[in-house]
Amino acid sequence: MAGLHLTDHPLIQHKISLMRDKNTGAKEFRELVSETAMLICYEATRDLPLKEVEIATPLAVAKTKIISGRKLAFVPILRAGLGMIDGVTNMVPAAKIGHIGMFRDDENCNVIKYYCKLPEDVAERDVIVVDPMLATGNTAVDAISEIKAAGVKNIKFMFIIASPQGIERLQSAHPDVDIYCGAKDDGLDENNYIIPGLGDAGDRIFGTK
Ligand code: URA
Repeated sequence: MAGLHLTDHPLIQHKISLMRDKNTGAKEFRELVSETAMLICYEATRDLPLKEVEIATPLAVAKTKIISGRKLAFVPILRAGLGMIDGVTNMVPAAKIGHIGMFRDDENCNVIKYYCKLPEDVAERDVIVVDPMLATGNTAVDAISEIKAAGVKNIKFMFIIASPQGIERLQSAHPDVDIYCGAKDDGLDENNYIIPGLGDAGDRIFGTK
């Protein structure tokens, strides 16, 4: 079974504290989401395989290592996941990017998929899905099912903040998916917002409220 990786580096904790502050405005919030995504991505890519190569330096030939093996794709869940894309592509500029759009039908709590565009060669890639908040886990579970249906074998999921309920739901539905997050919060309120959380990540990134 894959695991939960709580990436609580001091820089990540500091940036999440600034994001939680209700007085942090959209510009700073956006920058913090991107920077935190970059730091969590650093951990999520720690196990990328390497191969040894020989490189001519100005002075000698160095036996040294470069990343080898399967290529990566990032998949943000629309819309808040878009806020993490700058940060993760700073780390892995050659990665391709897919998009999945989902929303929750408030009448019956079903997740409705309204958009899905994955790279043509996604089945040959490892995928890291990004979404700032793991609340109930319903969207994350359906997004992973969609990506698996496209033939992807190795999937990781990166969040900034996760709820205990979301982690449990995701791990029981997709035990093969590694979860990376910067903080595990207390729980959910009656509207399924993470407590204490940081509010609605999409609204805070895009300044829509
Ligand atoms: N989505 C958010 O943006 N915030 C939450 O607290 C939960 C889901």
